[in-house]
Amino acid sequence: MTDLIEHSIREPAVGEYDDVVVDDVVGVIPTELSGTLYRNGPVRWEAGGFYAQHLFDGDGMIAKFVFENGELRYRNRYVRTPKFRAEERGRGKRIRGMGTNAPGGVLANAGRPPRDRANTHAIYHAEKLLALTDDGRPWKIDPDSLATLGRAHFRGRLPLWSTFSPHPKLDPHTGEMFNFGLTIPRVPRPGAIAALRCYRIDRSGRLSTIRTVPLPRIFINHDFGLTENCFVFLLDPLHVKHPIQFGLGLIDANAATVHESDLGTLVLLVPRDGGKPRMFPADVIAKAHVNNAYEIGGEVVIDLVRYDDWTELSAMLCGFRDQERLVGGIPSRVRITPSDRVIVEDRTELLSEFPMHDWRRTTREYRYSYFVHGDGSTAGIIKLDNRTGQTWLHEFADGDFPGEPVFVPRTATAGEDDGWLLVVNYDRARHRTAVVILDARDIEAAPVGIATLPHHFMPGFHGMFTADVRLVGD
Ligand SMILES: [Fe+2]
Repeated sequence: MTDLIEHSIREPAVGEYDDVVVDDVVGVIPTELSGTLYRNGPVRWEAGGFYAQHLFDGDGMIAKFVFENGELRYRNRYVRTPKFRAEERGRGKRIRGMGTNAPGGVLANAGRPPRDRANTHAIYHAEKLLALTDDGRPWKIDPDSLATLGRAHFRGRLPLWSTFSPHPKLDPHTGEMFNFGLTIPRVPRPGAIAALRCYRIDRSGRLSTIRTVPLPRIFINHDFGLTENCFVFLLDPLHVKHPIQFGLGLIDANAATVHESDLGTLVLLVPRDGGKPRMFPADVIAKAHVNNAYEIGGEVVIDLVRYDDWTELSAMLCGFRDQERLVGGIPSRVRITPSDRVIVEDRTELLSEFPMHDWRRTTREYRYSYFVHGDGSTAGIIKLDNRTGQTWLHEFADGDFPGEPVFVPRTATAGEDDGWLLVVNYDRARHRTAVVILDARDIEAAPVGIATLPHHFMPGFHGMFTADVRLVGD
């Protein structure tokens, strides 16, 4: 590992660009690659007096990459949240974040919920683009101009006090989107101090609540799996243990949240048809991200990235200003048997995060997984053959920070893995961010193309590709 150079991935991204043609290209942008990649992530951690103490307290920015006729055009916009607008007015010192209390102690924080950052996912469904985060509600974003249009309420069908998780799942076989939200009842009861609501959004964008499940703790759950028939939750013992101290402003939301391994993990399966949920305890499985899930031979399979010790991940997020390299977890397969046994099988020792797959296989058995690899020194993209366990690594330059590899099929009818991985990468040597196009079938080969943007930003957390070409004014 070499010393970090003068620039940093944590420097705030500057500039908003309007569908500029990216002409700094090495290799080619395939002419068959047609559509739009949206990305979201925090890219600014101090502005207008606000100074984030946690990675998640950065302002969300949507990046749009339009591929058409062998050309790439780029546009980006910050999400105009109240937090962003307050920072622009120089009122950042009044902002309470998720892991950042406002200066001024109790008086400045008591009774104030953390300000939404809208910085975790950009999901495109029913021709609408949403910016999502864990503890907030969705933001409507114009899919062409990326202008912030306001809060998304789904015509009033998303309950007022419900969150809307940043990891909805799209079922490619039905065109539906599924998601969950957490609510805290006004009158909590023993064993039901929180509730998890399961949502279905149909092809036209109409939201309905499938089921509401009472929970014994205020779980902080980031992701879930979706099979043909059910939602699959592995509820970590990560929960808000100190809500009163948080409410009084004595501690921030992150400090109020505790991972108590002794409590184990709660397995929860909720039928997509609204049937009776199945819930039972299991040994602890610490995780943030789920890849795919499916049912086979009576078992439910859910692939995820697990951690031996949650505190390591938490420390990395709080120490983000000094920690500029990813240290991932262990890609694992979890099998849930009909008799409520939970079997965990680690798939590779290569530490990884941001698990992905060919999205056309979501809810079904699939063969290939793709990850960001990071072990504190090496960064790259990993491909895993779920059938044989074989892995391939595309290594990036020292200090680079590649983001989640988004799979794009070569054609609509191409087989699994026959396509490209679009990787937004922070190129440290140039202090620029680039889109790196890998051939998914041969990720160890040189990139098909590298298109470098006019500025840098952290590659973001999540996003998706749509075959729709979304431009302004065409
Ligand atoms: Fe995530």
